[in-house]
Amino acid sequence: MSAHIIDGKVFAANVREKVAGHVARLKEEHGITPGLAVVLVGEDPASQVYVRSKGKMTVEVGMNSIEHKLEADTSEADLLALIDQLNNDPAIHGILVQLPLPDHLDSDLVINSINPAKDVDGFHISNVGLLGTGQKSMVPCTPLGCLMMLRDHLGSLSGLNAVVVGRSNIVGKPMAQLLLGDSCTVTIAHSRTKDIEAVCKQADILVAAVGRPEMITGDWVKPGATVIDVGINRIPHPEKEGKSKLVGDVEFASAAAVAGAITPVPGGVGPMTIACLLANTVTACCRANDLAEPEGLTA
Ligand code: GUN
Repeated sequence: MSAHIIDGKVFAANVREKVAGHVARLKEEHGITPGLAVVLVGEDPASQVYVRSKGKMTVEVGMNSIEHKLEADTSEADLLALIDQLNNDPAIHGILVQLPLPDHLDSDLVINSINPAKDVDGFHISNVGLLGTGQKSMVPCTPLGCLMMLRDHLGSLSGLNAVVVGRSNIVGKPMAQLLLGDSCTVTIAHSRTKDIEAVCKQADILVAAVGRPEMITGDWVKPGATVIDVGINRIPHPEKEGKSKLVGDVEFASAAAVAGAITPVPGGVGPMTIACLLANTVTACCRANDLAEPEGLTA
């Protein structure tokens, strides 16, 4: 194995430490405590775990965490009324509605009812448009985390060939916009891409975000490439019967033998998502109060 392993746990801890420093300064110099509201509808077990983890880390960096847990059969009108209340609450700087929502709720309508300035997920249509036109926006957390790790490892990304595998609104598309913003030559590959292996092999930066366990193998990777694996897939453990194992969208061992650097799963991109949510909240708080934005925590 030759690749440098990019340690997302260490990187995320550094981001949280920077956020905590900014939060302390906001409190001491301006008497402002950033507040993040998380709204969870229903009792999806994975969502409950995420929300608990977000709340804990929000408090650890010194911010206020406000959780609203609503019944699974909450009406759209009631959810929109809560969002309206949070939009108008000056103590709330970030609002996150945990997805997926129950089927009777229209996710697009709900997300687009959040004040774009408080949309710390960066999913509001205004933020999508601002990012796509190179204007200041709230940037989706997972792609922002990937960008931070790429900049840290490679320095300038200018002129590099970047291939993003996956075209989701949450990761693939915003990732491609961010890489374009850093002057990469960007290709988005997906399930219909012809000769996807050859396309990937051109990549100096390969971002895998398809949700297919170990789809990308070492023979798809250009020697020396930087490989960012966004996938988190639970598969039956190959050796331990009845147990499961987390793997990425990249077959780690074969890719690490060829790549210059690679993120592992778990412990790569995963920890960066919440760290970037906290970064976005402190950024939103600074913007709301006309204060200088923290450096190195935005795109
Ligand atoms: N569900 C899983 N990941 C996310 C995320 O990043 N944001 C929201 N709002 N819901 C999620």
